[in-house]
Amino acid sequence: MQNFSELPISSWLKERLASARFSTPTPIQAAAIPQALEGKDLLATAQTGTGKTLAFLIPVIEKLLCQDSKGIAALVLVPTRELAMQVADQFNALRGRLSPAALVVGGLPERHQLSSIRNGARVVVATPGRLEDFLDRKHVHFGSLQILVLDEADRMLDMGFLPAIRRIVAALPQERQTMCFSATMEGAMGRLVKDYTRDAVRLAFGSTLKPSANVRLQAFEVAVDSKQDALRHLLTKEGGRCLIFSRTKRGAERIAKNLNRDGIHAAIIHGDRSQSQRIAALEAFQRGRCRVLVATDLASRGIHVQDIVHVINYDLPEVAENFIHRVGRTGRAGGRGVASTLFAKDQRTDLFELERTLGIRMERMRLGGDPHETGDQMRAGVDRMPSSPKPRLVRLPGEVLQAQMES
Ligand SMILES: Nc1ncnc2c1ncn2[C@@H]1O[C@H](COP(=O)(O)OP(=O)(O)OP(=O)(O)O)[C@@H](O)[C@H]1O
Ligand SMILES: [Mg+2]
Repeated sequence: MQNFSELPISSWLKERLASARFSTPTPIQAAAIPQALEGKDLLATAQTGTGKTLAFLIPVIEKLLCQDSKGIAALVLVPTRELAMQVADQFNALRGRLSPAALVVGGLPERHQLSSIRNGARVVVATPGRLEDFLDRKHVHFGSLQILVLDEADRMLDMGFLPAIRRIVAALPQERQTMCFSATMEGAMGRLVKDYTRDAVRLAFGSTLKPSANVRLQAFEVAVDSKQDALRHLLTKEGGRCLIFSRTKRGAERIAKNLNRDGIHAAIIHGDRSQSQRIAALEAFQRGRCRVLVATDLASRGIHVQDIVHVINYDLPEVAENFIHRVGRTGRAGGRGVASTLFAKDQRTDLFELERTLGIRMERMRLGGDPHETGDQMRAGVDRMPSSPKPRLVRLPGEVLQAQMES
C-alpha cells in the first residue's frame, strides 16, 4: 500500500494523518487496519518501531468517529505508565471531536483519572494494576466496551499482570473485538489469546526475535573498573540523543551520578523513582534538555523518543529478548541507529551466548589500544577488534511459526 488514502477510513481521519505527516502506512498498519475495521480479532507481531500503536489506534478512532453512542468503548492495556501516557498522547493527537483518552495508571493522583472517565472518555488507556483497583471500587464500568487492545502483552505477563488481566477481562462484555500485540504468541501468551480471541487473524511482520536491521550492533570489551570511562568516551565522541541501559536501579543511579559529575547531564528513569521524577526525566530527554537518559529495562518496551541515535548497554541484559527491545529504541520508523554493548573479559561467553541465542553478530570494537586501558588512553579512538569466530545461528521456534504464518 502506498498511501493512507487507500485505506477504508474517513476523509477526516485521512486529513488528520496527513497533517500529522503520516503518508504511507507501515506494513503492519496496512495489514491490520482493514481487518480491524471489519471487526476481526487480531494477533499481531511486528518488529520494534514499525508503527504498531497507530495500527490499533486508527481503527479505534475510525470506529468511534462513526458512532454516536456513549460509555467506554475501547480499553488499551499496556505494561508501563510511560507507555500508557504515550499511547494516550497519540490518541489525543488524532481524536478530533472525541473526548480525550482517560489515563488509568499508578503513581499519579486518581482524581484527574476518575474525572476524565466521568467526563465521558470513550477510550481508556491503562496499566493493569490501577485499573483492577478502579474496577474493585466500581469506579469504572465496561458494559458498553467494544474493543480490547493488549499492547506488549507478553511483557505484561512477564511482569506478573496475568491475574489482573484475567480479572479485568472477566469484567468486559464477551461480545467484543480483541487486538493483541506481542513479541511472542507462544507459551502463556498462546493460552491467553486462545481464551480471549475468536477466529483471530494472525499478522506477523519481520522477526520479533531479532533486533531491527536498521541498528548497527557493536560490542566493546572493557575492564570492569573502566566501564564508566568507556561510557564517557562513547558519549563525548559523538552527539545526539543516547539511551543507556543498566541492569539494576542502583546501577542506573550510579551511572548517572558519575556522568553528571563529569559534566554530562543525564536524566534517570527506573521503578524506584517517583512518577513525577519519571515523567520529568522522560520529558527532559524528549525535549532535548538533556541528551542522555539512563534507564532500567522499564524503558525498553514500547517507549518512543524521537531520534535516539545511540543505545548503550552498560550491562548485558538479564534475558536475551530484552536486548531486542532495548536496541529497538533506536533505528525506529525507518531511521538508523547504533547500539553499543559493554562487556567485561569474563563475560565473553555470556556475550557469545547472547549472540547465539538471537542469531546475531555484534561488531567487536575497542576503545583505542588495549581494552583494559582506561581514561586518557581510551581517547585515542575507536578501533575494530579482530573478530572472533562466527556464532552458530540458531532458529528459534517462534521464528519458524512466524515464517509459516507469513507464507
Ligand atoms: N505510517 C507511518 N509513517 C511514518 N511514521 C510512522 C508511521 N506510523 C508510525 N510512525 C512513527 O513511528 C514511530 C514508532 O511507532 P510505534 O511506537 O507505534 O512503534 P511500535 O511498533 O509500537 O514499536 P515498539 O515495538 O517499540 O513498541 C513513532 O514515532 C510513530 O509516530
Ligand atoms: Mg509499541
